[in-house]
Amino acid sequence: MSEPTVSETRLFQPTADFASQSHLGSLEAYRALHKRSIDDPEGFWSEVASELTWMKPWDKVLDESDAPFYKWFTGGKTNITVNCIDRHVEAGNGDRVAIYWEGEPGDSRVLTYADMQKEVSRFANALKAMGIGKGDSVAVYLPMVPELAIATLACARIGAVHSVIFAGFSAESIKDRVLDASSKAVITSDGTYRRGKELLTKNIVDEGIADCECIKNVLVVQRHPEKEPFAHGWVEGRDHWYHDLAKNASDECAPEEMDAEDMLFLLYTSGSTGKPKGIMHTTGGYMVGTYLTSKLTFDLKPEKDVYWCTADVGWITGHSYIVYGPMQNGVSQVMYEGAPNYPAENRFWEIVEKYKVSIFYTAPTAIRAFMKWGDDHVTKHDLSSLRLLGTVGEPINPEAWMWYHRMIGAEKCPIVDTWWQTETGGHMLTPLPGAIATKPGSATVPFPGIDAAVLDEDGNEVERGILAIRKPWPSMLRGIYGDPERYKSTYWCKWDGKYYFPGDGAIKDEDGYFWITGRVDDVVNVSGHRIGTAELESVFVEHPAVAESAVIGVPHEIKGQGLVAFVIIRTGAEGDEDVMRKELTSMVDSKIGKFARPEKIIFSGDLPKTRSGKIMRRLLRDIAEDRPLGNISTLADPSVVEILKDKIKG
Ligand code: PRX
Repeated sequence: MSEPTVSETRLFQPTADFASQSHLGSLEAYRALHKRSIDDPEGFWSEVASELTWMKPWDKVLDESDAPFYKWFTGGKTNITVNCIDRHVEAGNGDRVAIYWEGEPGDSRVLTYADMQKEVSRFANALKAMGIGKGDSVAVYLPMVPELAIATLACARIGAVHSVIFAGFSAESIKDRVLDASSKAVITSDGTYRRGKELLTKNIVDEGIADCECIKNVLVVQRHPEKEPFAHGWVEGRDHWYHDLAKNASDECAPEEMDAEDMLFLLYTSGSTGKPKGIMHTTGGYMVGTYLTSKLTFDLKPEKDVYWCTADVGWITGHSYIVYGPMQNGVSQVMYEGAPNYPAENRFWEIVEKYKVSIFYTAPTAIRAFMKWGDDHVTKHDLSSLRLLGTVGEPINPEAWMWYHRMIGAEKCPIVDTWWQTETGGHMLTPLPGAIATKPGSATVPFPGIDAAVLDEDGNEVERGILAIRKPWPSMLRGIYGDPERYKSTYWCKWDGKYYFPGDGAIKDEDGYFWITGRVDDVVNVSGHRIGTAELESVFVEHPAVAESAVIGVPHEIKGQGLVAFVIIRTGAEGDEDVMRKELTSMVDSKIGKFARPEKIIFSGDLPKTRSGKIMRRLLRDIAEDRPLGNISTLADPSVVEILKDKIKG
């Protein structure tokens, strides 16, 4: 294994001001809490869980009898929405704003916690009226309107399992997910706004569910002022306007009593092989994990903070750090529908100023875009309300970190670089603000209760190697829906079931700080979105002229990583490359979504393969990045390398 490459030496200590008011005000406090959490995980997590409302306490904190199918808080009964909403209303905080919603065209809505209690109950009753109940799976394909948060909470209220599908996914992706989860209903909208254009979401849903017999109802939230003439019509008996059902729905709905291990939601994510997997999260552990991580990582002070996470609820970041974590803490938050550069590149900063946002959580890819758009968009706004910044989704380059620190954080806001995954449910590595000094580009140290290590393939601790998690934690995934074997083989086989394998490379420096070096499998992180190269390759080979394809990730200035596709055309099927490129791109759009489009599609007669026929992806990456190639004598046909090099340059 190569030597560690961390050359970053800058260290930013928490300011005395921040530390003195923070939940965990010193390094010693962090160390003591972390040690306690590792020495006595059950004691630690049960104390955290006791801060929340349960209908019946748990019998056992952690059940390891069927590892790696760990169970948490067994025997406990609760409903997560009680902790997200009712608890705050009952404590007299019903008038506190839950959501300041900002529509892209400039319209806005404000919902208090008391409003949320009514709206979620009303929505829950509408679902019940359609025959949805405990254990049923409901797909949610909604833009970033308040109903997205309301609908997910409404599912949780009645014990239905939500499967939120990011509204940038194509019809075919909807179909795959709906069929895999056997969803009984879809919640969608007529449309949304994106960069000033009206997008018709229901049309995409209609196309996606055309052959899904499991879907009995489609609930449509109205976002556009005029009723749409939908491309696929309106199916009487199946399609319902939400506002029609809402008229007759009561705004009171008792929360369903859920077992701690009852499923809360499914969220599909890409792996290195096969179709996207349905990651299963259950009620109790996820509730406790997202509650504590939100509270400590963001140092939440619900009485005064205005928190804004710019992610979409369609991804895990929105599930954990828009819907469930912040709301369990009773904080006020901003939710924004549209693009960061509409109508202009200052839109985010205008929103920060308007709502006096104090905590701002975004992705490195967005920060790099802001840098490119220029400082003027930032400096014309008053950002003095900000007190804490966060990043998530991909490694942040030190240059972007420093810009964020200087331009957005006025050199006073701590930056929490949070490493975690769809599977982990919540933050795993992150500085705790006020306690942990930060280094640009490092996700720093494990969250309390998380025991992380850097290992080699054989399970020995090394400085540079593969990230591993030693112990189970409450918000961990409970499996892959319908595929327990894949759960075991993907996450628990690398080190004989002793550690969780997240699929990321990491370095641990002399201070015990972790630096994520990127995926070690065939997953590419494009603008913080996980894309399996195998998924894209299988799209290309569906084209009748394509014999074979290999997709790789390459560094990208804004997106972090971009995709390059190498495509081999069948002999005799060669044609105009530009036409073929357009066809392949539109296949990506319709089978996955526009966000998965490759930067480059390179047509070639052959790919570099070993004599046993295995594609040498590492070599493709070296060619794409114009790096020295080293020994290529194991190639079946070394001449292919020169041809590809010319093609990349051309
Ligand atoms: O490679 C890591 C990267 O994103 C992956 C998880 O992707 P997803 O499940 O879509 O969740 C994204 C939001 C949590 C990880 O395996 N990743 C996430 N956060 C970071 C990161 N890489 C480096 N630093 C981070 N802070």
